[in-house]
Amino acid sequence: MHGVDMLETLRDHEEVAVTGGAGFVGRHLVAALSLLGKKTTVVDHAPLTEDVATLPGVRHVRADLRDYGETLLALQGTDVVFHLAGNASGTESVEKPRHDFHLNALGTCNVGNACLELGVARLVYLSSAIVYGTPLHAPITEDHPTAPFLPYGASKLSGELTLRALHATAGLPVVIGRSFVVYGPGEDPRRAGGEVSQFLRWHLGERPIPVVGDIDRKRRDFIHVEDLCRAMITLAGRGEAGGVYNLGTGTAVSMRELAEAVGAATGRPAKLEADTSSLEDSFTLLADVTRLTGLGFMPRVSLAEGLSTLAALLGPYPELPSARAVFRRETPVRRRRLSPVDEMAEVTSC
Ligand SMILES: NC(=O)c1ccc[n+]([C@@H]2O[C@H](COP(=O)([O-])OP(=O)(O)OC[C@H]3O[C@@H](n4cnc5c(N)ncnc54)[C@H](O)[C@@H]3O)[C@@H](O)[C@H]2O)c1
Repeated sequence: MHGVDMLETLRDHEEVAVTGGAGFVGRHLVAALSLLGKKTTVVDHAPLTEDVATLPGVRHVRADLRDYGETLLALQGTDVVFHLAGNASGTESVEKPRHDFHLNALGTCNVGNACLELGVARLVYLSSAIVYGTPLHAPITEDHPTAPFLPYGASKLSGELTLRALHATAGLPVVIGRSFVVYGPGEDPRRAGGEVSQFLRWHLGERPIPVVGDIDRKRRDFIHVEDLCRAMITLAGRGEAGGVYNLGTGTAVSMRELAEAVGAATGRPAKLEADTSSLEDSFTLLADVTRLTGLGFMPRVSLAEGLSTLAALLGPYPELPSARAVFRRETPVRRRRLSPVDEMAEVTSC
């Protein structure tokens, strides 16, 4: 189907579901779909906040996507599904990889299969640039090799591959979006590791901003959550079935530049405190957005604007970030296994 036809298709479809609609990105997407007049089912095992629950046309089905029966029931009657539910924390995936795999890989397989069984017209899967692993170059096009270094990246990639295989073998009408670093109102400072909110929170709390890594070499493509939601809606309407799209702005910002922008947004210079003991993620993570912009999408919220509105919302002395970036897991020291010969010696010496 041609892009423009698909846009018409989205317009026709009234019944939309958002998995993970109680989460940070999901809440913004549900609000955007409600504004467009869609009947939106939020599928999430967490409760909805009052502001989302009372939006026009929104209902909540409490379901755990690890359970296939619950997934099937929850998505019944929907035409377009936006699949966002899952674990979004790299740190949590390092500490609990099985939990991460169940939420991201198994949950996504269940959603894909349910969409096939129910004849859903379109599935949009929100994946992550984490699937690329350490970038070999910048900017990154969608055909850059995928070599995730965190369990989170592996489980997101597993979700992608499963959905693409369901597209190849059964025609699942899925479009995949790989989001770069999202920021905006509503991030949980105890879980979210995105630099924009973290930098603002430290600075508004009149603290120096701690940065692990090289403040010039560590560069990221920051996309405002409202732009991300518009990009996902664009994918639903115009994305090619089976296709993968980078969701970013096409601009890289270093940690030094971000701190300067935080200073400009708050009218007071920000102080960075760099810890160069780990340079693990001191690379440029920048999206090539040619495919996305080819669908007619352009980001609207500049970093300066996004920072000013977020700073005003957070106010003075917001809760300080407590999310840590963990790349290595503490594992117990293995007990030395006795070889069979040693074991015999043990037995005979008793
Ligand atoms: N936040 C980012 O910077 C970012 C960047 C790239 C991609 N993403 C992707 O976007 C999606 C949403 O991220 P977020 O930051 O809003 O995360 P979030 O943790 O705020 O929201 C995730 C939501 O999914 C729900 N959920 C998780 N497992 C579930 C299950 N088995 N059944 C039902 N509901 C379940 C949670 O209750 C939560 O409400 C994730 O898939 C993440 O991989 C996020």
